[in-house]
Amino acid sequence: MTKVKTSFFCQNCGNQYPKWQGQCTACKSWNTIVEELVQKPDKKDWKVNGTSKQRTSKPLTIKDIDASQEARLKTSDSEFNRVLGGGIVPGSLVLLGGEPGIGKSTLLLQIALKLPFRTLYVSGEESQKQIKMRALRIFPENDNCFVLAETKTQNIFKQIESIAPEIVIIDSIQTLHSDHIESSAGSISQIKESTSELIKFAKETNIPVLLIGHITKDGHIAGPKILEHMVDTVLQFEGDRNHVFRILRAHKNRFGSTNEIGIYEMMGSGLREVSNPSEILISKKDSNLSGNAIAVTLEGIRPLLIEVQALVSSAVYGTPQRSATGFNAKRLNMLLAVLEKRAGFKLGMKDVFLNITGGINVDDPAIDLAVMAAILSSNEDEALQERICFAGEIGLSGEIRPVQRIDQRISEAEKLGFTTIYVSKFNKISLKNPKINIRMISKIEDLLQELF
Ligand code: TYD
Ligand code: MG
Repeated sequence: MTKVKTSFFCQNCGNQYPKWQGQCTACKSWNTIVEELVQKPDKKDWKVNGTSKQRTSKPLTIKDIDASQEARLKTSDSEFNRVLGGGIVPGSLVLLGGEPGIGKSTLLLQIALKLPFRTLYVSGEESQKQIKMRALRIFPENDNCFVLAETKTQNIFKQIESIAPEIVIIDSIQTLHSDHIESSAGSISQIKESTSELIKFAKETNIPVLLIGHITKDGHIAGPKILEHMVDTVLQFEGDRNHVFRILRAHKNRFGSTNEIGIYEMMGSGLREVSNPSEILISKKDSNLSGNAIAVTLEGIRPLLIEVQALVSSAVYGTPQRSATGFNAKRLNMLLAVLEKRAGFKLGMKDVFLNITGGINVDDPAIDLAVMAAILSSNEDEALQERICFAGEIGLSGEIRPVQRIDQRISEAEKLGFTTIYVSKFNKISLKNPKINIRMISKIEDLLQELF
């Protein structure tokens, strides 16, 4: 009989203790330490296609290391490739996290279905039939995508050896279970063990593994933080489930920048890549309405034109209401306070509602100027001119502050047919003879004067 060894793990940070204690000394959280069974796994040599791909490593000088880039696996999804920095790196582990129902399984199944070589999609969450039904909606004709409903890592590796796929997708890491450890699937030690087996497998066979990870209610990937340290790339799939747009973001990427984002639209037939998001985010309408303004924001390093809508109405009850969707409510209050102080608006008597269209959450401070313009426009009940847009941050004294990557923003606005853009006077613009009219302002009083 094998000797059973137990240890105590913090469910929050994954720290290990020899005996139980009330508080985790590492992350200071209370009552998170539970006992789990541990057992050291045996050594394993991977055999794919009958040949052992065990790589031995010996120290080399930097000069001698072969730096030629291994060819990345390009998927047919250009947004996904871009977020990864140009495709999937062979032998890498990519973790994709996101809210339930956001479309993680759909995204990875779609990628697997459209790849021209053998792929293995392992699901611990859905049956083969369910996956087939989903596949029928997305991309029915495919002879290379194998589907396996399995949760035991040892069985998964056995199947991989016989199928020899070029890429493995696991949905999800929290459902995996390794025989080497006896605690239940989803526990800290299981996640840790399954991930390290997968890492070992990926590094030794050079087959990339894409993992789906659940997230906890506060938005972190479920399991120990160490999971994010172990993998090469952490992607986050986000968006509002009630809206059709989804944003794919890299939080960590050992092989590329974390600035790139990918934008998708959820359709009846899977996720569609959105290569020009600005055109969809700006609503098409016949007549100009008051309270609307267009902001030129950046998502990662991608310029994105977003419509801001504001509604200012007289407060019926004593305390005026403030509500913001897709924009920080505290920041809205700050902007209103600046408007009262610097431009003499009596917004203390008004309800103010703010909405960013498309269900997108904007953190970029450059949206301030458009928010201000939309509020002013609604307050005056006067529509802004057509084809104008804004990019500027507003400071506490009402000054318009410069924003980063202004040239890129201006070019994007110009490309989309805007005729005027309002920016800070303090921005250095190095664009050569832009066709768009650039209005440089320094205070919100200037904005008022220019617009109304
Ligand atoms: P899913 O990939 O199951 O989400 P996750 O794995 O992140 O939990 O996606 C679930 C949602 O996507 C579901 O509510 C239905 C919707 N959907 C579509 O709108 N179109 C489609 O073609 C597919 C496959 C799913
Ligand atoms: Mg899923």
